[in-house]
Amino acid sequence: MLNELLLQKFKDYFGDNPTLLVRAPGRINLIGEHTDYNNGFVLPAAIDKAIYFAISPRNDQNCIIHAYDLDDSYEFSLNNIQKSEKGWVNFLIGVLAEILEKGKKINTGFNVVFGGDVPLGAGLSSSAAVESGIGFAINELYNLELSKLDLALIAQQAEHKYAGVNCGIMDMFASIHGKANSVIKLDCQDLSFAYFPFDFPDYTLVLCNTGVKHNLGDTEYNQRRAECEEGIRILQSAFPQVDSLRDVSMRMLSSQADKLSPIVYQRCKYVVEEIERVNIACNALENGDLATFGQKMYETHEGLSQDYEVSCPELDFLVEQTLNISLSEELRGAVIGARMMGGGFGGCTINLVKADTIDKFIEKISLAYHQAFNIELQTYKVNIANGVEEIEKELVMN
Ligand code: GLA
Repeated sequence: MLNELLLQKFKDYFGDNPTLLVRAPGRINLIGEHTDYNNGFVLPAAIDKAIYFAISPRNDQNCIIHAYDLDDSYEFSLNNIQKSEKGWVNFLIGVLAEILEKGKKINTGFNVVFGGDVPLGAGLSSSAAVESGIGFAINELYNLELSKLDLALIAQQAEHKYAGVNCGIMDMFASIHGKANSVIKLDCQDLSFAYFPFDFPDYTLVLCNTGVKHNLGDTEYNQRRAECEEGIRILQSAFPQVDSLRDVSMRMLSSQADKLSPIVYQRCKYVVEEIERVNIACNALENGDLATFGQKMYETHEGLSQDYEVSCPELDFLVEQTLNISLSEELRGAVIGARMMGGGFGGCTINLVKADTIDKFIEKISLAYHQAFNIELQTYKVNIANGVEEIEKELVMN
């Protein structure tokens, strides 16, 4: 058990038991990609892969952080909080700095060991898990009375200022608000949300990790945001009431097509269509119509690949393969939905696969991927789990 290892490490390192153990999950997103920063809808969920934290307050102003998976440590004083050269440190420091920025008082430093099983760079938001976990832990440890939404907004700010990615709110929101067997339909305009049951015993969610992380990711991500903003600026001349792409219909967009560059038009088109797709997919979910839901996932992939251009050959190949597999005699209809997930340029595809064909599906797709790219395909079956939470220490120690 991971948290047992972490607990042991904490004892070895700091000579005592931690005050608090926290589990902070990674996330998947069923549908609604690149819509969060456009005030649209998303449909994420927290998963059963998580980062765990063992933490205790200290008597002085120092903070000592140990990253279990990296076997690396970092020490600093509360009186001197600065960005670090070590990338991983900034996710934690960023959250701490944002909490202090909000005027919350932390009287002493802390010791913390953290680590987990959210694969890094796979698009499962390990960074959001780290941010939501440390935020939750500090909030509990010092009774700061920050709400879940506060913690999500703090994590997002930390990511913007300390990691340099102008991400939306989806990842941290999901890691914090997740609920077992439910997806979250989040309205990124007013941050209202509703849980939708996602519990289909005949289907399993399988992630296929391309194993590639193109460095382009962060730059292109910020670039897409800028392109959407450019689109809005131009649309506002004709429609002054428009505040974000959430307020734009395809009819409005088409009427201004000649004023937008082809690229900006394409980006806006994808977003407007995707926001609508989330609504259709949610209706399908309510009606238990997984076939339509899966079809929408494929359409999302097409849009992300062709119009938004955040896919890559490896992701496209994996999605294409699910169609071939589903057409084969042996595994007919095995996959009902597949698409790239998250920011793009690598990471995972998410697949909705018939539970009784899982092993064969994994075997087939792994073989095809290896033949095409000479990369061992990592696959994960994921379950939808609760968001960030305290773990009873006693349960782990017994
Ligand atoms: C990344 C960002 C999210 C979201 C997705 C794309 O995961 O962190 O805010 O924009 O990409 O949907």
